[in-house]
Amino acid sequence: TSCKCLFFSFLLSVKTSCDGRKNGAQCFGVLGGAVDVQLMDSVSEIYKFEWKRNNSVILIWRNNTVVTPKDDRIPFFPSNGSVRINDLRRNDSREYKIEMFDRNGKNTGWKTLQLFVQGNQVFLF
Ligand SMILES: *[C@@H]1O[C@H](CO)[C@@H](O)[C@H](O)[C@H]1NC(C)=O
Ligand SMILES: *[C@@H]1O[C@H](CO)[C@@H](O)[C@H](O)[C@H]1NC(C)=O
Ligand SMILES: *[C@@H]1O[C@H](CO)[C@@H](O)[C@H](O)[C@H]1NC(C)=O
Ligand SMILES: *[C@@H]1O[C@H](CO)[C@@H](O)[C@H](O)[C@H]1NC(C)=O
Repeated sequence: TSCKCLFFSFLLSVKTSCDGRKNGAQCFGVLGGAVDVQLMDSVSEIYKFEWKRNNSVILIWRNNTVVTPKDDRIPFFPSNGSVRINDLRRNDSREYKIEMFDRNGKNTGWKTLQLFVQGNQVFLF
């Protein structure tokens, strides 16, 4: 019914945010919505990082540029060190890992976070 559709399109705009600066962070998103994840305080002192979902690279940043925007659904905002996942799907519920590197390619640290994408029913309380 149209009522259901209106309700659904309202849910589509749900945006959540989470602080992924701490290792082991837990993040929550809503199916069809978006989540903003703060990955770092400032990207300016990070030469290179890779962001992976279940071990496959979804974003590479190197020398002040996004090198692989493989997925338009996942923009990175250098101005505040956060990444957004739009149009959340159930299978985005995964572990994500950021690995940082210096200009010599040396790994300088990593952090993981867990994303949970929840269905609409969470809003029917
Ligand atoms: C995640 O990665 C593991 C090992 O690389 C693989 O076995 C598993 O099927 C993957 N899971 C999903 C949901 O893609
Ligand atoms: C990084 O980019 C700057 C200019 O954007 C360039 O001058 C420099 O050579 C680059 N460094 C490396 C290691 O690629
Ligand atoms: C980061 O910047 C983007 C683009 O300006 C903005 O949409 C987003 O809300 C900001 N995120 C945080 C955590 O400040
Ligand atoms: C995740 O689900 C979407 C549809 O909901 C599908 O198009 C996509 O291929 C899936 N991705 C993975 C990695 O399974």
